Amino acid sequence: MTNKITILSIESSCDDTSAAVIRDGLLLSNVTASQSVHEEFGGVVPELASRAHQQNIVPVVDASLRRAGVDKRELSAIAFTRGPGLLGSLLVGTSFAKGLALSLNIPLIEVNHLQGHIMAHFVHPAGSMISANPKLQGIEFKHPDYPFLCLLVSGGNSQIVLVRAFNDMQIIGQTIDDAAGEAFDKCAKVLGLPYPGGPHVDRLAKLGDPKRYPLAKPNIPGYDYSFSGLKTSFLYSLRDQMQAEGVDSIDALAEKVPNLREDYCAALQTTVIDILLRKLKKAANDLGIRQVALAGGVSANSGLRAALLDYARRYHWQAFIPPFSFTTDNAAMIAQAAYYKYLDGEFCPIDAAPYAKTTI
Ligand code: KG4
Repeated sequence: MTNKITILSIESSCDDTSAAVIRDGLLLSNVTASQSVHEEFGGVVPELASRAHQQNIVPVVDASLRRAGVDKRELSAIAFTRGPGLLGSLLVGTSFAKGLALSLNIPLIEVNHLQGHIMAHFVHPAGSMISANPKLQGIEFKHPDYPFLCLLVSGGNSQIVLVRAFNDMQIIGQTIDDAAGEAFDKCAKVLGLPYPGGPHVDRLAKLGDPKRYPLAKPNIPGYDYSFSGLKTSFLYSLRDQMQAEGVDSIDALAEKVPNLREDYCAALQTTVIDILLRKLKKAANDLGIRQVALAGGVSANSGLRAALLDYARRYHWQAFIPPFSFTTDNAAMIAQAAYYKYLDGEFCPIDAAPYAKTTI
């Protein structure tokens, strides 16, 4: 037996089944199976997601242990995402983690999914993992110092979090209706783009004129966000174009109006980024914090990444953006949070039930 701390983590909160192995704070593997079954429905279907997790979990955990070169008898603890997320999906990961921990007689560690996203900034892949993955090569794995502000933007959340420590986080602003990712996905659906729409908006926005179709910006006090008005403004603007051109479908409109989808995507992306970063700037100014970080699936957006770096240059911030593979749902971030909890002796009882909703 070794004295090394080796943790297997499982993430199954939505539609990605992921398992990772971390040893003494270094990430050894991170394997994720995504679910294409939802594409034809234009959104995640919870029942289908749970079934796909059941099919994926054994091969994903197995691949993660093999890639890490770790035998399950070497594990010190099993970590899992307890919530928030889809209850059926969470149940698959939670039950699997409990069964494995019981059979190996090792402790369980629960991780809050949102805290996990923020801990993605502290993931440090081992040299063996970096050399095996070209996408991780050349990246400088620097992490922010506490306290820092984290803009957490995903399909279900848009929050500004004041992070004082791995176990001391405070949401200081959040969306009062839709999340930023939801705005991307729903507007993309209106444009007839596949699910999830965020990456398609990102791709098309690069070819569009952001000023051609001005969209509404909300006026919400404090650090809170709202994206539902933007969504409505997007819909009404397209409806007006359709009426003006005398057509009744987006495809027909796109045939008549050159660069239609590209220009709408550019307008949407620029507006979302502007809304997100203005509030982040206000929070950074008010709190006198100069270290800012991005987390969550929407932080994969190339426009948001570039805009954050631009703000950082202008306002003398130090900006932190995780590598792409650690921005969308993944078990590496859960493993990192679990490693800190292990060091702190924070284990959870075997009857810990998953939760669908919670704050940080
Ligand atoms: O954090 P995440 O993987 O899942 C949860 O919300 O749980 O985030 C998914 C969201 C989706 O809304 C997706 O459209 C968005 O992240 N997303 C993007 C991009 N890549 C993923 N949004 C904009 N640009 C992208 N490149």
